[in-house]
Amino acid sequence: MANRLANKVAVITGGTTGIGLGAAKAFAAEGAIVYITGRRKAELDAAVAAIGVNAYGVLADSTKLEDLDRLYAQVQERHGRLDVLYANAGGGDMLPLGELTEKHVDDIFARNVKGVIFTVQKALPLLDKATTGGSVILAGSTTSVLGTAAFSIYSASKAAVRNLARSWILDLKGRAIRINTLSPGPIQTPGLVELVGDDVAQQQGLLDYLASQVPLGRVGQPAEIGSAAVFLASDESSFVNGVELFVDGGLAQV
Ligand SMILES: NC(=O)c1ccc[n+]([C@@H]2O[C@H](COP(=O)([O-])OP(=O)(O)OC[C@H]3O[C@@H](n4cnc5c(N)ncnc54)[C@H](OP(=O)(O)O)[C@@H]3O)[C@@H](O)[C@H]2O)c1
Repeated sequence: MANRLANKVAVITGGTTGIGLGAAKAFAAEGAIVYITGRRKAELDAAVAAIGVNAYGVLADSTKLEDLDRLYAQVQERHGRLDVLYANAGGGDMLPLGELTEKHVDDIFARNVKGVIFTVQKALPLLDKATTGGSVILAGSTTSVLGTAAFSIYSASKAAVRNLARSWILDLKGRAIRINTLSPGPIQTPGLVELVGDDVAQQQGLLDYLASQVPLGRVGQPAEIGSAAVFLASDESSFVNGVELFVDGGLAQV
């Protein structure tokens, strides 16, 4: 491993499992100081231990603005700046149009849209002080550009995220803060397999079906999103701004 993120201070929201944990491990391996968040204390502590040196855990729910304030107050106090922000916390469950409820819509938009908005907005004063410019990565999804049965609200929330990046790079014109959307295809995580409940055979059936849809013939692993996130976080992508980077085995490209 190179030291592509040496001396960078990074925050990854939702870093206790899945993609966020994969990205946190990749960032730490490249020399970053990594803050991860999550809502469950035991999982947070286990993830911090698994990441190893230079990892901090902050118990925080990204939909709660006071939790975000507490997170950034710690970063401000210890480092006075933030170089990389990966607004990864999010997710959603499945319901067809006829069964949608107000709670389903509010929950998913709170997690994937409202949470992302204030995660980024509240980080701006720290990102302005980034050593070589700030890099913000938003958690998109191939669902932002594909129709998926019973997944409309989640998919619409990810389409919203994609536009936030497009519009925010104009709001931040002239400031050295880049914002890109990282859109995974199916990645083997708890958040993905639990879409079909906790039956292991059903979870494997979902993974097999999704693999059959992907041109590479398999689902992805969190480390494969982690390595793409390292690129967007690092100075190697210093002129990459406002893109949607699909890391999907080709799923949404055909
Ligand atoms: N897996 C995929 O196939 C896939 C594909 C495209 C996009 N994505 C997106 O990638 C991101 C990560 O997905 P994943 O599959 O890795 O999910 P996951 O395995 O469910 O992990 C989600 C992580 O976020 C945390 N989290 C959830 N809600 C949070 C909140 N409100 N505040 C703070 N932390 C929160 C969870 O911990 P706690 O529950 O303890 O809070 C956990 O650490 C999501 O935005 C998801 O929509 C995933």
